[in-house]
Parts: sequence; C-alpha cells; structure tokens
Amino acid sequence: MITNDVEDEGDLPGKLKEEKKEEFKHRQRRQSLGGQKAPMRPRRESTTSTGSWSSYTGSSSDEEATNPKEKEQSNSKGCSDFCVHNVAQAAFGRREIEIAQQEMPGLMALRKRAQADKPLSGAKVVGCTHITAQTAVLIETLSALGAQVRWAACNIYSTQNEVAAALAEAGFAIFAWKGESEADFWWCIEKCISADSWQPNMILDDGGDATHLMLKKYPAMFSLVKGIVEESVTGVHRLYQLSKSGKLTVPAMNVNDSVTKTKFDNLYSCRESILDALKRTTDVMFGGKQVVVCGYGEVGKGCCAALKGLGAIVNVTEIDPICALQACMDGFRVVKMSEIARTTDLIITCTGNKSVVTREHMDRMKNGCIVANMGHSNTEIDVNSLRTADLTWERVRSQVDHIIWPDGKRIILLAEGRLVNLSCSSIPSFVVSITSATQALALIELYNAPAGRYKQDVYLLPKKMDEYVASLHLSSFDAHLTELSDEQAKYLGLSKAGPFKPNYYRY
Ligand SMILES: NC(=O)c1ccc[n+]([C@@H]2O[C@H](COP(=O)([O-])OP(=O)(O)OC[C@H]3O[C@@H](n4cnc5c(N)ncnc54)[C@H](O)[C@@H]3O)[C@@H](O)[C@H]2O)c1
Repeated sequence: MITNDVEDEGDLPGKLKEEKKEEFKHRQRRQSLGGQKAPMRPRRESTTSTGSWSSYTGSSSDEEATNPKEKEQSNSKGCSDFCVHNVAQAAFGRREIEIAQQEMPGLMALRKRAQADKPLSGAKVVGCTHITAQTAVLIETLSALGAQVRWAACNIYSTQNEVAAALAEAGFAIFAWKGESEADFWWCIEKCISADSWQPNMILDDGGDATHLMLKKYPAMFSLVKGIVEESVTGVHRLYQLSKSGKLTVPAMNVNDSVTKTKFDNLYSCRESILDALKRTTDVMFGGKQVVVCGYGEVGKGCCAALKGLGAIVNVTEIDPICALQACMDGFRVVKMSEIARTTDLIITCTGNKSVVTREHMDRMKNGCIVANMGHSNTEIDVNSLRTADLTWERVRSQVDHIIWPDGKRIILLAEGRLVNLSCSSIPSFVVSITSATQALALIELYNAPAGRYKQDVYLLPKKMDEYVASLHLSSFDAHLTELSDEQAKYLGLSKAGPFKPNYYRY
C-alpha cells in the first residue's frame, strides 16, 4: 500500500485503516447472514499421532475458533506473554520450522558463525512480518545472536498458526493468528511495542505498520529506537515520505532494494509461489489460458516467466515504457486492461499501486475469470466495489470467493485481493533465507554502527553485505567462486575481497 497521508491521519495510517475496517465489516456482514464458509478440503494429511489434519494454510476450524484474545493460554514453562491461535499446536509447528531450517542455509550459517560473538546482545526488536516457518527461523536466529524480540504479523491472513504456537512454546512473545480482525491486528502490534519493562531499540518491519504505530502513539519510545529495518516496497515508500517531511528521527535500512532482496524475494520467489497459490486454490490448468499480469517489475517478471513456462498465453499491462519494452523483448504482449478484460481467464496484479483492476473491468470479465493480487496491499483490485447489493458473494473454499453477477456470471476472487502467495500457499524457504539473512545483517549493522555512521535517513545495506549474504548461500549448490588474481584485481581496480560491483550496477 502506498500511503500519502502520513501527516494528516489519526493514530493509524488512514487508508489502511479504512481498507481494513471495510474488510472487517464485510466479513461480519457475511457471517451475520449465516455465513457460507464451506468446509475447506484438507490440504494434506498430518503424520502426527493425533491423526488430525495439517492446518498450515488454514482451515475452517481456524477461522471459526474463539478469538485467541479471549483464551487464557500459557506454554509448558508457565509463560503467558503471547497470544496465538492455540499453543497446543506447537509440536506440529516445530516440525515446520525444522523443515524450513533445512532450506535456509544462509541464516543457519549466520547463526553458527555469529553465535559466539552475539552481535545483537542488548538489542530489543519489535518485529512485524508475515509469521511463517521461515520467519520463525529468522526470529530464532536473532535470538541466538543475542536479541530479545516481540513479534506480530504484518498481514491478517498469512500467519501459520502452528508456527506461532511453536514460537510461543519456545518462550517468544508472539502476538498473531490467521484471520485477525482489524482491531486484533493493531492490538497485536501494540502488544509488541508496549509491554512491562520493555523499551524497544530496533524495529524490523514489513509494510511500515509497527513503525507508524510506534511513531504515532509512542513518540517518546520511538525517539529511543536505534534503527529500523524495512523489507517491503510499501514500507520503504512510507519511510522516504517520513524522511522527506523531517519526521524520521532514526536511521532506517531499506532492505527491499538490496539486490539480495529484490532479485530473489520479488523475482525468484514469486516465480515459484504464484503457481502454487493458484493451483491450491483453484486447481486451474495453465496451458493455453489467457493471462494478464499487471506490472512488469520484479514480481510481475517472476509471475510471467512461471505462467509462460506452463504454456499460458501471457499479456502484460504497464505504465512505464522501459518495463513495457522489457515485456515485449521477453515475448509478451503489452495491452491495456480495458482491451483484454473480456477475454481473460486469469488476472494477477503486481504493481504496488491501487485500483489497477476496477469494478468496470470486473463487469466486463468473462464467467470463471480468476482475479488475484501479488502486490503488498489489497488496494490493487478494487474489492470494495464488489460489495454492492446486486452481487452475491459465495465462499467456496478458504480464501476463495465466487462473486456472482445477476445474470449468473461468476468471477473467482482469491484472498479477497490480498497477496495471494502468502495468503494461500507457502513460499520457498531458500529465498526467504536470503532475505532474512539480509534483514539480520541490516539489524546487526544498524545496531552496532558507531555514532554518526548513519543519520536520520533511509539507507541501503552496503554492497559488501549483499555479497556476503549471497556467499552464505553458495555452498548449498556446491558452487565454486573464481578468485581474482592480483593482476586482475589491479586491472579492474577492485579489492580481491569485494565489493565487486559499483552501487549503480544493475544485476
Ligand atoms: N507477493 C509477494 O511475495 C511479493 C514479494 C515481493 C514484493 N511484493 C509486492 O509486489 C508489488 C510489486 O513489487 P515489485 O518489486 O515488482 O515492484 P516494481 O516497482 O519493480 O514493479 C511494479 C511495476 O508496476 C508498474 N505499475 C505501476 N502502476 C501500474 C498500473 N496502474 N498498471 C500497470 N503497471 C503499473 C510499475 O511501472 C512497475 O514496473 C509491491 O507491492 C511489493 O511490495 C510481493
């Protein structure tokens, strides 16, 4: 989400507040109408002795459970400083975390190498990210490096409940569950910011909500923060706005624009997870389907490559002539949404913008068109415009709604327009390892930087650190780097230890 109204809003970012309120009201309205949540098909069988179904992508029982805020829970050591769906799911969550660890070699290597030094000793981190098995590996790595953390979810749908349970059982102050309401969402973040004997000194954010809440409601606390690490396009945009208006009083690290984040998380991760999310929710066959991908940035490029690989006919919409030309060079047709809406089988938004798919477009779409969003916020598809009396919403599976027009036409809306891969599938742990190692190094850098190295501004991680993150991941491919000879290093004017590229180099 791009929020332009940082200055004039109340406690919370205004547009987000409105969106979430609307979404919450809509959900309540549907429930009061008797609800229509069909039992979701179990995704895969659990191997636990209880024989219960795995629920890591959610289940109807997850969604219908008592609000975790109303439950009294404590872990096996008697600690109750957390709020999760059900702490009894911890054993299953622990297995998920162990599986993720195997595919997160960079983070595990960092844990091993820096554990003795404890470079985050004394750091008190407020974390607000998607809470998945991979994030759990990051949280436990930060803890192994000496940090204390309190963590909330940055998205109301993406929490893996059993992973949150495993973290709570391990003693972490986790406040998150899948299907939080708007009020719950902010309550969870606030529990991480404000607690007894707790003065946070670092923020690790994804989308900027923890940063903004602390800035608005706890300005004195915010002024004592040493640094902010922000992962998303949206959050970074909000930081630059704060910086521009002179309201950023602490240094911030823009991890989103680190090469190791942008290329790997946005491009390679989305290239894999888009197909998974669509298959799980719709069982769609991609071959021969007419697809529109809105936005040919990193995420859009990943989605296009994946869908093309499975034989879909891929079209692209773009506003930027450079990206549009890139799409042409890669063999995609660049079209306007208004030209193509009528004949398309699948539309995916990846722009970081708002109202890219409007009610007018959706009125034109053909029966059965699937509409999904891969951008950070639910602003890309104008979902609110579908909440009118003439249209009927039918929940057919968890995260899958059929929107039915008076003439019987249906479109299939995934995750109510929220980012579909994180809401409906899992993302590759290996890629998250790269992003998470970058985040961990950014925290270490900001926390340990001598006074004066970073001012009240937004910074990129030094290139050498990006290279270090990449090198941590090479051994899993048995990749052997070539070393510069003295003569070659001199010829190129480089240090043999890097950095190997200037800051302006585009990978
Ligand atoms: N789902 C995920 O796992 C995931 C991962 C990384 C980033 N994201 C999110 O995806 C979004 C895109 O990220 P990115 O790295 O590709 O950004 P980007 O800036 O590289 O690409 C966005 C593209 O959309 C284009 N665009 C903007 N408005 C448009 C419009 N109205 N119509 C058509 N094109 C338009 C821009 O010109 C740009 O080329 C962001 O919101 C980001 O936070 C999601």
